[in-house]
Amino acid sequence: MAVVLVMVGLPARGKTYTARKIVRHMQWHGHAAKVFNVGNYRRERLGSNQPASFFDPDNSEGRSARRAMAEAALADLFGWLDSGGEVAIYDATNITRERRGWVRASIRERGIEPIFVESICNDSDIVATNIRETKLLSPDYVGADPERAVSDFTRRIEHYERAYEPITDEALSWVKVVDVGRRVVINRVQGPLATRIVALLMNLHIVPRTLYFTRHGESAYNVLGKLGGDPSLSPRGRRYGPALSRFLDTRQTRPTHVWTSTLRRTIETARPVTSAARSWRLLDEIDAGVCNGWTYADVAARMPDDFHRRKADKLRYRYPRGESYLDVMERLGPVILELERQQESVLVVAHNAVIRCLYAWFADKTVDEAPHLEIPLHTVIAITPRAYGILEERFALDVDA
Ligand code: F6P
Repeated sequence: MAVVLVMVGLPARGKTYTARKIVRHMQWHGHAAKVFNVGNYRRERLGSNQPASFFDPDNSEGRSARRAMAEAALADLFGWLDSGGEVAIYDATNITRERRGWVRASIRERGIEPIFVESICNDSDIVATNIRETKLLSPDYVGADPERAVSDFTRRIEHYERAYEPITDEALSWVKVVDVGRRVVINRVQGPLATRIVALLMNLHIVPRTLYFTRHGESAYNVLGKLGGDPSLSPRGRRYGPALSRFLDTRQTRPTHVWTSTLRRTIETARPVTSAARSWRLLDEIDAGVCNGWTYADVAARMPDDFHRRKADKLRYRYPRGESYLDVMERLGPVILELERQQESVLVVAHNAVIRCLYAWFADKTVDEAPHLEIPLHTVIAITPRAYGILEERFALDVDA
């Protein structure tokens, strides 16, 4: 049974951020999920430079243009569900009772009870940060003068505030997310997919923090080109931990938490950084099963068929008695929720396939791209999530000096 989520809330309340995360979460666990953002329809059809007055509830021309966009987006959403979509998110402000009534009735005609996800933000600091980021990064203000953009956007929000009617109807299914995760209130929400979505909503926040991802230092197996196993670091790889620690000293704050896998090479790498690392089995490298300890050349020679099948579909190929990338993604679910929940900086020292998957989640890469991402050794990837996208920096550390 398809699930339709309907976002509700004033502009700059983190709706789009939340919608995108839900889609990611669902795709990650193998479901077809898609956001239908009414703002994108407006930008495509009318251009991105509509003045604040376009959003004035007393401007009847603006009102009917906005309604036409809302209808077009909903029609596409239905078309997508008909073609096999499973989780659709209708991303618009939907702030009036009248609008929600129409949206709900249209969705119920298809036998689906929508779940409203209302994003309420009373924390003026969060709103101010959102406005600033929106001003800088929203497609509505590309190339606009920042001061003008902020004042125009603030006026747009004021128009919406006049019309806003928060959800009060307890006959509807809804989740209210207050101050991006500070409080989550749930009403009449059931079913396995919806439960997963609520778990994500409970862990999301937009408190600024940086996530550091790195592979372990070069291992004895890396030197030999062998897969998997539990080797120690090579002499060169042993220089990476101290280099990593020195690098972290140059950052504004050192990460509060350091996580490793249970494998020697990540624990040895983290030791110079902290004596208090947490080891997660969930962060262990992809299990190469019967190919553990082999080189790629061994796999090609001894199991040519498997070698080609993996090349053709690296995401789904499962090593005999081992794992596929999809398996790794599934098992990383709890780590990702925990990373989302953390409000302080975290350093994750893990492995090639595992860092690819974690990076893909936070850098908004598709599930299909994940197995092919380039994650070099001795490189720290620093990711700072933002309301619109992320700030990503890569630091290649010198272990040969
Ligand atoms: O070669 C190092 C390594 O971490 C192996 O243990 C693992 O099997 C491999 O990388 C994963 O990369 P790929 O999926 O590209 O084979």
